[in-house]
Amino acid sequence: MHFPEPVIIGTSPAIQKVLQVTYKVSNLDLNVLITGESGVGKELIARSLHYHSHRRNRPFVKVNSAALPSELLESELFGYEKGAFTGADRTKSGKFEMAKEGTIFLDEIGELPIYTQSKLLQVLQDREYYRVGGHASQEVKARIIAATNQDLDAEINGNNFRADLYYRLSTISIHIPPLRDRKEDIMPLVEHFSKYLQQEKNLPEINLSPELIGLFHEYHWPGNVRELVNYLQRHSVFGNSQEIMDAMQSSLNRDVDGSNRNTGEEAEQTSGDDLVEYQDIIDGFDPDNDHFPSLKEVRDQVVKRVERDVIEKVLLDSNWNRKAAARALKISYRALLYKIKEMDIHPTKH
Ligand SMILES: Nc1ncnc2c1ncn2[C@@H]1O[C@H](COP(=O)(O)OP(=O)(O)OP(=O)(O)O)[C@@H](O)[C@H]1O
Ligand SMILES: [Mg+2]
Repeated sequence: MHFPEPVIIGTSPAIQKVLQVTYKVSNLDLNVLITGESGVGKELIARSLHYHSHRRNRPFVKVNSAALPSELLESELFGYEKGAFTGADRTKSGKFEMAKEGTIFLDEIGELPIYTQSKLLQVLQDREYYRVGGHASQEVKARIIAATNQDLDAEINGNNFRADLYYRLSTISIHIPPLRDRKEDIMPLVEHFSKYLQQEKNLPEINLSPELIGLFHEYHWPGNVRELVNYLQRHSVFGNSQEIMDAMQSSLNRDVDGSNRNTGEEAEQTSGDDLVEYQDIIDGFDPDNDHFPSLKEVRDQVVKRVERDVIEKVLLDSNWNRKAAARALKISYRALLYKIKEMDIHPTKH
């Protein structure tokens, strides 16, 4: 399996330190736990660890622990034998088997149901596992990298995460600080992605005004690098610097006027999508626009935004207790986790 070398941009001492550890441990067969807020580059670092290891030409298999219903997780990870359960009409390999001698990336490990945590711990201890319904043991040959944007210490204290599994996974731990704590990286990232969007995605050239660059350095980037890239894309397409600036400025003002950015209250403003409200949709509905949307697309976009705002509000009201939020929204816990992931909603912690 081949993919290009992951490009990690950043000149700040913080990211340089992350890179130093990454290169130092990439070729060692130690388990690595990568932590950091949403969008800081955890998957990028995981891919870089794989790329710089002797496993580089072997598979890199990602498992999103949050996206799978808990009853499917075990068979997803370890596979199943024909006849193991109703509907198992053939033997199927799991992700560990698919990863072979490559790397298995356990993303969102903090969301792993407690039962699956015990299973995984046992597998990591024994370096072997059984397919569901199987009797022949399979050797774990893959290297294990896990990631989370949760505070695992808090999860351990709340009995939601097993401490022994945490120690197993974090032989080496790499923490990626949020973008607001390494502002030196903003301009190199802007330059890199401006070039990338223009050359690889054929987007119009991006010219940022000095005022916007100033704001970029004040803004707190709850969605980190992913949010910055989204801004650049939007800026490139709509080219309306004033509108983006007003939105960022008002987000900053809201911080100053009351809600302190160090409290959970900030989640209310974490959405990159609420920035221009619906104006961009209305602007897009212009026959001169190359991507003139259909009314259905417009409706879908609006519904998505409202849905997202409601989910954010309920999460905020429940203090990010996702089980309570799911009950309030009358959707399943897993469905909520999926939406949080899909809509890129996140609390801002500190
Ligand atoms: N230092 C960096 N240099 C270049 N690109 C970066 C950097 N950090 C993040 N990115 C880019 O930002 C986006 C988000 O990164 P990534 O998916 O690795 O974040 P993440 O921490 O896994 O987020 P999440 O917790 O939401 O899954 C990706 O497009 C990634 O390539
Ligand atoms: Mg990720």
